[in-house]
Amino acid sequence: MYLFLLALHSLIRWFVLASLLFVIFRSYRGWFGHKPYTKTDHVTRIITATIAHIQLVAGVWLYFISPVVDYFLHNYSQAVHMRQIRFFGMEHVTIMLTAIVLITIGSAKAKRKTTDEAKFKTMAIWFTIALLLIFTSVPWSFSPLISRPLFRSF
Ligand code: HEM
Repeated sequence: MYLFLLALHSLIRWFVLASLLFVIFRSYRGWFGHKPYTKTDHVTRIITATIAHIQLVAGVWLYFISPVVDYFLHNYSQAVHMRQIRFFGMEHVTIMLTAIVLITIGSAKAKRKTTDEAKFKTMAIWFTIALLLIFTSVPWSFSPLISRPLFRSF
C-alpha cells in the first residue's frame, strides 16, 4: 500500500501543477485582456481545487503510513537535524497544506466575486502564490537538497 500511494502521490503532482498552470494562465489572460468569465473558467477552477484536495487526501494518508515520517515522529530530537527526514516530516507537509488552503480560499473567494475581472484577479493572485509554494516544496529530481524521481512506477 505504501509504495502504491507514494507512486500515486508522485503522479498526482503533475495534475496539480498542470491544472494550476492552466487556470493561472487563463486568469491573467482574462484579467488583463478584459475577457468574460466563461463556463470553462468556472469548471477549470473547480477541477483545480478538486485535484488539490485529492492530493491532500493522498498526502495525509501517506503521512500516516510513511516509514520516513514514522522515523521522524518517533526520533524527533535526532531526526529534526536530518534534512531528508525533516523535509517530509515537517516542511513538505506544512508548505503543501498552506498551498492547498490558499487554493481553497482563492477558489471560494473567486466564486463570490460579482464581476468577471474580480473573479480572474482573485484566482490569479491566490493560485499564483499557491503554485510558488508548491514549486518550492516538491522534491524535484534535480534538487541538490531533497531529490525524488519525477515519475515513480506502480
Ligand atoms: C500540492 C500538494 C502536494 C504535492 C505536489 C506533493 C508532492 C509530493 C512528491 C512529488 C513527493 C515525492 C514522491 C516520491 O517519492 O516519488 C511527495 C512525498 C510526500 N508527500 Fe507530498 N505533495 C503534496 C502535498 C502533500 C500533503 C498535503 C501531505 C501531507 C499532509 C504530503 C505528504 C507527503 C509525504 C508524507 C511524502 C513522502 C513520504 C515518504 O517518502 O515516505 N504531501 N509529495
